[in-house]
Amino acid sequence: MIAVGSDHAGYELKKELLRHLKDRGFETEDYGTYSEESCDYPDYAKKVAEAVVSGKADRGLLVCGTGIGMSIAANKVKGIRAAVLSDEFSAQATREHNDANILCLGARVLETEKAEKLLDIFLDTPFSQGPNHVRRISKLEELS
Ligand code: RB5
Repeated sequence: MIAVGSDHAGYELKKELLRHLKDRGFETEDYGTYSEESCDYPDYAKKVAEAVVSGKADRGLLVCGTGIGMSIAANKVKGIRAAVLSDEFSAQATREHNDANILCLGARVLETEKAEKLLDIFLDTPFSQGPNHVRRISKLEELS
């Protein structure tokens, strides 16, 4: 299951990406927000991050204006490795190297088609399991 959330700025893009995920056959859960009324992105980052660390969700997707606020908030939750992305190389690398478990996207900086491409790479790329990367991720865990 993919846990999905946004603030008001990310609401429209989130709807497009939920549709894309459903078209691809993924099970999703939408943790809000459910309108374009102004709201606070940390509230939705928390819900999605908790769904991921609890194991209820396999991965998370968070959308705000830039993706940055969502990533700052989600990364405060122990066990979360959230990556804000805008290019395909980083989307692949953050899965292979960082085993990122939440993708953060910026609705004010990305076209829908690009966002879908980044989401596809994020979901389709496995963690490399390389010992160097496993060791570095363990050190990330020690930081929080
Ligand atoms: C909301 O105006 C905006 O600040 C938010 O969506 C996000 O971009 C924060 O990082």
